[in-house]
Amino acid sequence: MISDIEKVLLSEEEIEKTVKTLAEKISADYEGKKLLLLGILKGSVVFMGDLMKHLTIPTQIDFMRVSSYGHGTVSSGRVNIVLDLFRNDIGECDILVVEDIIDSGKTLSYLVQYLKNKGARSVKTCTMLDKPSRREVDFTPDYVGAKIPDEFVVGYGLDYNEDYRALPYIGILKREVYEK
Ligand code: IMP
Ligand code: MG
Repeated sequence: MISDIEKVLLSEEEIEKTVKTLAEKISADYEGKKLLLLGILKGSVVFMGDLMKHLTIPTQIDFMRVSSYGHGTVSSGRVNIVLDLFRNDIGECDILVVEDIIDSGKTLSYLVQYLKNKGARSVKTCTMLDKPSRREVDFTPDYVGAKIPDEFVVGYGLDYNEDYRALPYIGILKREVYEK
């Protein structure tokens, strides 16, 4: 464990078990559909890579990038689309949006509405982590890896000012790192 981490919340082994369980559920639920995993850059890349390997049904992948955070640990609340989804078959796609973490819920609730408006056949959401106590809008994800307390976490794709994404576990970042 590196010195900036206060505590490991989910170890590599725990993450692997969690992702396999999610992949089994998703594979069963999307049997016979046209699944499109839509990763939200950049935080979802590690989770998405693991998740897709464990699916037992055909899938396509795509990515969008949104920004709401900028720097620091508190969301600005506004969602900007930085990289959009370009497909001409969206009306045949059963989209599963893949996120690293849900905090206020603003990013995912905005995106679900946005993708429905674009004409997707169905839109559901899958997040590795959920901080339900932080919710500011009424939003419930369809698939959740783990619910966690209100702590700022990094690793497994999650960053603080672009650092720590490559850590193989999920850990609570020491407050002294961002409260300087
Ligand atoms: P929401 O719109 O408030 O739900 O924000 C979700 C986004 O905030 C995620 O995609 C992350 O990029 C970021 N975020 C929220 N909490 C954390 C955290 O604890 N660590 C790292 N990023 C976080
Ligand atoms: Mg993110």
